[in-house]
Amino acid sequence: MAILVTGGAGYIGTHTLVELSKAGYEYVVIDNFCNSDKKAIERVEELTGKSIKLYEGDIADCELMDKILKENNINACMHFAGLKAVGESVEKPLMYFKNNVIGSIKMLDVLIKNGVKKIIFSSSATVYGEPETMPITEGFPKGETTNPYGRTKSIFEDILIDTSKADSEMTAVLLRYFNPVGAHESGRIGEDPEGIPNNLMPYITQVAVGKRDILHVFGDDYDTPDCSGIRDFIHVTDLADGHVKALKKIGVLPDGEVPADTGVIIYNLGTGKGTSVLELVKAFEEANGVKVPYEITDRRPGDVAVMYCDASKAEKEMGWKAERNIEKMCADAWNWQKNNPEGYKG
Ligand code: NAD
Ligand code: UD1
Repeated sequence: MAILVTGGAGYIGTHTLVELSKAGYEYVVIDNFCNSDKKAIERVEELTGKSIKLYEGDIADCELMDKILKENNINACMHFAGLKAVGESVEKPLMYFKNNVIGSIKMLDVLIKNGVKKIIFSSSATVYGEPETMPITEGFPKGETTNPYGRTKSIFEDILIDTSKADSEMTAVLLRYFNPVGAHESGRIGEDPEGIPNNLMPYITQVAVGKRDILHVFGDDYDTPDCSGIRDFIHVTDLADGHVKALKKIGVLPDGEVPADTGVIIYNLGTGKGTSVLELVKAFEEANGVKVPYEITDRRPGDVAVMYCDASKAEKEMGWKAERNIEKMCADAWNWQKNNPEGYKG
């Protein structure tokens, strides 16, 4: 039995492969490398001491997907493959709907036709929109997403919900990530954004390593204690471990399956704690003994002031809890960046 990991060469996928190996799972990867590097797969092989069965191609290639499912004894799919740059999705919405929605529908169709009906989906806190109160529980209604990327996540969640209603064997776990940061503590795998990073932590690490001059802190007029935005940052290894726990929750064990609930299960994956942008900058400087020069600029359009979750459902139902604190997130992000200043290209 093996898990099919789509987008397994990416940031979260690679970290999850390492945790899957640790837990004793076998897996097969499909990735088209549109936002990743083959070196990432080699690094996972180095960390786990095992060679990876890799298929290079697109999840929308039904023939290839069918071949993968026929050649391997797959019993569940972890679906990471997707485009994720918010700004790009505003400029090229069709590209995002085509890749993240149409590609995922094609993939799901082939999975179901081959009897693979257990899927763990990489969703995002962005599906909640801008709730009026915090912390966010899974019981909150979905909100107005502010960009096409967010809508692709929300739409594919709905597709999994409807598919599960129509097929009593379908089981979908929707994992709504808050803000994944950090890297594997070895410093061998980590986040490797193309061009100018959109997200805060890779921007901070690139300023610290001298690749960029200064961090722009977007807005100092939020209604928060230090007037900068607040997020729920979660260490990528904790996030990866959440995926392993989700497999167990739906009865998929390394050596076979046990009966478990079917239908759709939703979990927030965050720490439950909010950290402000300025607090993160300070924590990074203190954890690593480096300076991160910054200047305040205007708010970034579409940003919400505060987002953090109530992560207690995942703890109660699957025994998962984020273990790593902000200092560890900062230390590991820096360890990756300073050892790989050019990412995997170096
Ligand atoms: P990533 O870009 O590093 O990884 C995604 C991987 O999918 C890449 O290796 C890419 O080459 C591959 N891919 C994309 N489209 C594909 C396709 N059509 N066929 C085959 N492979 C394809 O991103 P990540 O940060 O690891 O995110 C993984 C998933 O989690 C994504 O779906 C993303 O939207 C979601 N997510 C990420 C974050 C975050 O902050 N990183 C937050 C919430 C949700
Ligand atoms: C963003 C996306 C979200 C996506 C997530 C992936 C938007 C509106 N939201 O979330 O859909 O799922 O990334 O991780 O883009 N910040 C700065 N300077 C920077 C970068 C960020 O001050 O150079 C601030 C932002 O204003 C925000 C915080 O840092 O307050 C976190 O930003 P970011 O890392 O981009 O994540 P989100 O905006 O939460």
